[in-house]
Amino acid sequence: MLIAGNWKMNTDLPGGRALAEDIAEGIAAAGDRFAEIDFAVCPPFVHLQAVGEALADSPVALGAQDVHAEDEGAFTSDVSAPMLTSVGCSHVIVGHSERRQYYDETDAQVNDKARQARRHGLVPIVCVGETLEQRRTGNAESVVRAQLEGALDGVPVASADDLVVAYEPVWAIGTGESATPTQAQDLHAVVRADLSERYGDAIAADVPLLYGGSMKPHNAADLLSQPDVDGGLIGSASLEADSFLGIAERAVEVQSAK
Ligand code: PGA
Repeated sequence: MLIAGNWKMNTDLPGGRALAEDIAEGIAAAGDRFAEIDFAVCPPFVHLQAVGEALADSPVALGAQDVHAEDEGAFTSDVSAPMLTSVGCSHVIVGHSERRQYYDETDAQVNDKARQARRHGLVPIVCVGETLEQRRTGNAESVVRAQLEGALDGVPVASADDLVVAYEPVWAIGTGESATPTQAQDLHAVVRADLSERYGDAIAADVPLLYGGSMKPHNAADLLSQPDVDGGLIGSASLEADSFLGIAERAVEVQSAK
């Protein structure tokens, strides 16, 4: 299971550092309890270095929330993959629905970013998910399939360690209304089947498929117990160490039963 936090545009530097320290301390205090859980946090760009330092002795991987498709150049405000690797990032979120929604990011751009991430040894956390309107009109599955086709075309994935996919229904993000476990499982199965066709059954079986959208400690067990839900991409509940690690606790319980 992979429990990943997306801090979005939250925390200032002392707050981000303190949150990272609290997470690292909580994991250390749990001893072997989280031994089978993988963790990642994706703080704002400006906190990456400080958060990376705070997590240096912990098992928590460092991820960014976006990456530019070029290595360098005149792209004011953008951040490149070499910059991310140079501060210790191993993961990067690409195609988050907030980037698609507020910055009109297209599948083609998400694809460029995912390929760029792989070129630099970063693991892209590729986000897909339908809007409420798309779900209401019965198009959730076709939308997710099209997003995967657009985002993953030509992305080299030689092993399951090279990719993470997050299914995040747009209507569940930040709303407090998560998908039901069945809704999540249905779409995760669609993602898994797509990855099987693309990369073969063996790789597809082990690529972590994260659910995102109002995952909290109280609903995490039901979501994580679904066969094709391998973890969570957690927004607001990742901003407190207690709730973030509370979700990890549910993952431990579920994983031993899976
Ligand atoms: P949320 O965000 O947990 O606050 O709904 C999830 C995400 O956008 O990754």
